[in-house]
Amino acid sequence: AKVGILISGRGSNMQSLVAASRAADAGYDVALVASDKPEAAGLAWAAEQGIATFALSPKGIGKPAYEAAIDQALRSAGVEVIALAGYMRLLSGDFVARWRGRIVNIHPSLLPLYKGLDTHARAIAAGDAKAGCSVHIVTEELDDGEVLGQAEVPILPGDDATALAARVLVEEHRLYPQVLTEFVRR
Ligand code: GRF
Repeated sequence: AKVGILISGRGSNMQSLVAASRAADAGYDVALVASDKPEAAGLAWAAEQGIATFALSPKGIGKPAYEAAIDQALRSAGVEVIALAGYMRLLSGDFVARWRGRIVNIHPSLLPLYKGLDTHARAIAAGDAKAGCSVHIVTEELDDGEVLGQAEVPILPGDDATALAARVLVEEHRLYPQVLTEFVRR
């Protein structure tokens, strides 16, 4: 399957998806990396790898025009499945409807716990014993939709959000390619 990855920043999950796509049995390849932030570090990395990239800021043009351009770029690249990887914007209901059931996201919590931002600080503040990450199908609702896979890590005494985020991120990099491979086969 041809996958398009949307990022807003560093792109470490995008890098792990690209790396895993090179295995013969991955079942997908990355046809486009697109970003709402032209300066996103992950875009430069993808371009260096020879992957097609597309960058457009919604600032000034508005969300409908922005999303129409992203949609066009994805379709021109032959993308069949969209993987959100640190993409920090909520996609509109219209966009999600056009790609219904074909957009996945990774979220750094054990959904349905802690949708939205600051997941690690909230898990620590709640006194949870464990945290983790979830890959799910994207719907109109933020961090909602069928959970396709999860990985857990312990929350250790003395953890702050930074330490916990680093522990969870290791699992994100392992989980996301594995779940994407299963998803494109189902
Ligand atoms: C990841 O923790 C992801 O789960 C969250 O934002 C972070 C993005 O990191 N939504 P990166 O850009 O993939 O390095």
